[in-house]
Amino acid sequence: MKVLAIESSCDETAAAVIEDGRTPLSSVVASQVDLHAKYGGVVPEVASRQHLRNIVPVVREALESAGLTLDDVDAVAGTKGPGLAGSLLVGYNAAKAIAFGRELPFIGINHLEGHIYANWLVEGPEPEFPALCLVVSGGHTDLVFMRSHGQYERLGGTRDDAAGEAFDKVGRLLGLPFPGGPHVAKAALEGGPSDVSLPRAWMHGTYDFSFSGLKTAALHAVREEKHTVPNLAWEFQEAVVDVLAGKTSRLARELGARNVLVAGGVAANQRLREELHRRCPVPVRIPPPKFCTDNAAMIGAVAGFRLDLGERSPWDQDVFTTNNWARV
Ligand code: KG4
Ligand code: ZN
Repeated sequence: MKVLAIESSCDETAAAVIEDGRTPLSSVVASQVDLHAKYGGVVPEVASRQHLRNIVPVVREALESAGLTLDDVDAVAGTKGPGLAGSLLVGYNAAKAIAFGRELPFIGINHLEGHIYANWLVEGPEPEFPALCLVVSGGHTDLVFMRSHGQYERLGGTRDDAAGEAFDKVGRLLGLPFPGGPHVAKAALEGGPSDVSLPRAWMHGTYDFSFSGLKTAALHAVREEKHTVPNLAWEFQEAVVDVLAGKTSRLARELGARNVLVAGGVAANQRLREELHRRCPVPVRIPPPKFCTDNAAMIGAVAGFRLDLGERSPWDQDVFTTNNWARV
């Protein structure tokens, strides 16, 4: 079964064709980074207008680079949320319109479930259940227990900023380009241990995270003007990675999880990948970086398995902006 999947929840317009939920035949991502860079963050109205310009060419390119036409497509999937409403509406309605016009099955997919299912796009044995999922994106930081396909229980998460959001804000404090995450990681490669020390919020007795105190401490350290940007970037990255890897590995041990599945844009971070592999008591699965950040292949992966179960979405299903793991 070949699924055409469309993703437009934030600032990437993406389309992909996925075969049998596991094999990407194409994956096209049109990034709007340059457009938003001058504002230092994603401007929702600018994003939705750009999605409108990009959506048709991106879908066309996804079909062409898979060597297919719409006649070869068996079903269509679109990201239904969470995300920016104006952005979601463009991709979701494009997906619906194609499905409706071609009389194909249609399914709306949760963006964060998509990030988790990027782990099924990797060649080799499938992830094993029960799995502990660490979802770390620009908008979300959650620890989710996955007993089986499509079954989620949220055990912890951030009480303030998401991990990616913290990277982006500290990147801005350090004068680095948008989005901060990859630029902080790059700057940290030139840095190392120094006399700057940033706090870790362990939130003992919970599986929650908090990054706002770390961000404020980084702000004070920048204002002191005593430290180099690479050393501050290094210390900030170590503080975030330490808490994420520390709490994830402990919870995986307590739950008796068979795998740890890492998901979302921050999963592209090399130090986080290294520390999770080093500390977790069970095999850790992390998608290749191109499937960690927003893409449509991951949406097609979820769609493949849900359509197989006979699931379809009603035409009047709407988009949503916040997440609820109990009702994915
Ligand atoms: O999942 P994603 O592409 O979009 C959302 O669903 O939010 O995640 C984007 C986030 C941004 O905050 C970005 O700075 C962060 O992922 N990110 C990184 C890295 N690459 C992307 N953070 C740290 N290190 C990276 N290498
Ligand atoms: Zn995302």
